[in-house]
Amino acid sequence: MVSADTTKNASPAPAPAATDWDALRTAQRARLQRMSEQAFAGGGKDRIEKQHKQGKLTARERIDILLDPGSFVEVDRLRTHRCLDFGMEKSHPAGDGMITGYGQVDGRHVFVYAQDFTVFGGSMSEVAAQKICKIYAMAMKVGAPVIGLCDSGGARIQEGVASLAGYADIFCANTLASGVIPQLSVIMGPCAGGAVYSPALTDFICMVKDTSYMFLTGPDVIKQVTHEDVTMEQLGGAMTHSAKSGVAHFAVDDDTRAITTMRELLSFIPSNNSEEPPMRPLNDDPERKDDALKTMIPSNPNRPYDVREVIKAIVDDRHFFEVQPHFAGNIVVGFTRMMGQSVGIVANQPQVMAGAIDIDASDKAARFVRFCDSFNIPLLTLVDVPGFLPGTQQELGGVIRHGAKLLYAYAEATVPKMTVILRKAYGGAYCVMAPKHLRTDVNFALPTAEIAVMGAAGAVAIVMRDDLNKASDKDAKMKELVADYADKFQNPYKAAELGYIDEVIVPEDMRPRLCQALTLLRNKRDELPPKKHGNMPL
Ligand code: HXC
Repeated sequence: MVSADTTKNASPAPAPAATDWDALRTAQRARLQRMSEQAFAGGGKDRIEKQHKQGKLTARERIDILLDPGSFVEVDRLRTHRCLDFGMEKSHPAGDGMITGYGQVDGRHVFVYAQDFTVFGGSMSEVAAQKICKIYAMAMKVGAPVIGLCDSGGARIQEGVASLAGYADIFCANTLASGVIPQLSVIMGPCAGGAVYSPALTDFICMVKDTSYMFLTGPDVIKQVTHEDVTMEQLGGAMTHSAKSGVAHFAVDDDTRAITTMRELLSFIPSNNSEEPPMRPLNDDPERKDDALKTMIPSNPNRPYDVREVIKAIVDDRHFFEVQPHFAGNIVVGFTRMMGQSVGIVANQPQVMAGAIDIDASDKAARFVRFCDSFNIPLLTLVDVPGFLPGTQQELGGVIRHGAKLLYAYAEATVPKMTVILRKAYGGAYCVMAPKHLRTDVNFALPTAEIAVMGAAGAVAIVMRDDLNKASDKDAKMKELVADYADKFQNPYKAAELGYIDEVIVPEDMRPRLCQALTLLRNKRDELPPKKHGNMPL
């Protein structure tokens, strides 16, 4: 029988050496220090120098300017990629070329991600995308905006479909966050291929002139496929997208300007859709009457003027933050304040194409109205519009579909809505520009307002054709009929009689009366019929 006690004659096992906890902790601290230093060093001195030489800041420098001093808290600084192909196994930089975290702008929380071009060209890896999705999830939970600082060579080539999946995850996060938290994109370098769709899904895009570009397919591919010669700048530069395609909302001179523009933009908007926009202390008397308004709007309906001067005369401190100033100049949109409260302005611009509404103006204004409505920003609409722009280009381009977007956006909006008809409000354009019939709360008109189906000459030529033909002196008859039509229809009084205009006011009373209305509407509550979502014409 084998003895059960097999250990009896064995020599005792050596006692484990006591763990030197202090040494271990010191080593771990040193490791953290090393990894953090690596993350802070980005792609190294040479690549940072190259970035600076191109007139660009580094990702960390950009974050420093964006956020209140000392407020940045980095999330996932130590995450790195898992790719073992094409030499990637040799380099695992902490952060993986994507800096994510949160901080404050004017004391309010925001989340930020910044692509670090000095690390693998800021390319989007599986991990970089997960880092972005993580801060999106946090931003949605706490109700804070997300700002993306983009400077990237696109999908991380070595990771293949994993990086494409990462992009698609981000697009989904962008979409689910839309209308819940504000999303701003700043393009500060390359943004090409499908990568453009994340900024495109956000609320505002700011591009830096000369150093940034956005396109789906670059000049080389275009040359091969269509034989067109086009430069990067012509194809996707800041001014191209700000003035021609309308993809971008702002084009600025450098990185610093881009970031300060975003800081100002944030000052007008709430942190999420269940908050009111931040108030700024009042510096301007709500009762102020600007005498210049008496003559600012020419009584001659054919004379142009700059509607931005009217806006400045009625808002706090004459300050107007214009959005998309280079695109569809025939309509002006932007943010301002009245009594310290944020207000979104939409105004026809008689200085450009007489203020006629076209495809681009419809898209620009509709998107702005929807943004304001999503984020509880009251809308003020200033109307001076001769109608929709006629022509085959517009009709074949789908002006019916595009104009319908603006109608839809106004009708659907439940924020406080105020409209002033300054001068012309003709035809379909009257119906589109926030009239009473689209659930606008307060509708004013100036005595110079002309509200009619069409202008006098056109109307008389159609409906009084017989009288004109019979007249011996056709010119004299035409003048008489035009004067009669103008007296009957080219004024605000018929609309006021019908209750479509609440009140005809004089121009210098605009600010006091609008401030009064804004106070009245502060607690406005309005609803839409229950539905999953509408089917907006797109
Ligand atoms: C991995 C990349 C990269 C990428 C750049 N790099 N783009 N690494 N994946 N997509 C690396 C380079 O290898 C280089 O590494 C460093 O970043 C800097 O790049 P350079 O070429 O030296 O910089 P520059 O001369 O300024 O040129 C920038 C560039 C060029 C024009 C962006 O890098 C480029 O053409 N990159 C590829 C762009 C591209 O085709 N991306 C895929 C698009 S399709 P080293 O180690 O040398 O510093 C796409 C699909 C998305 O993104 C789909 C979403 C649905």
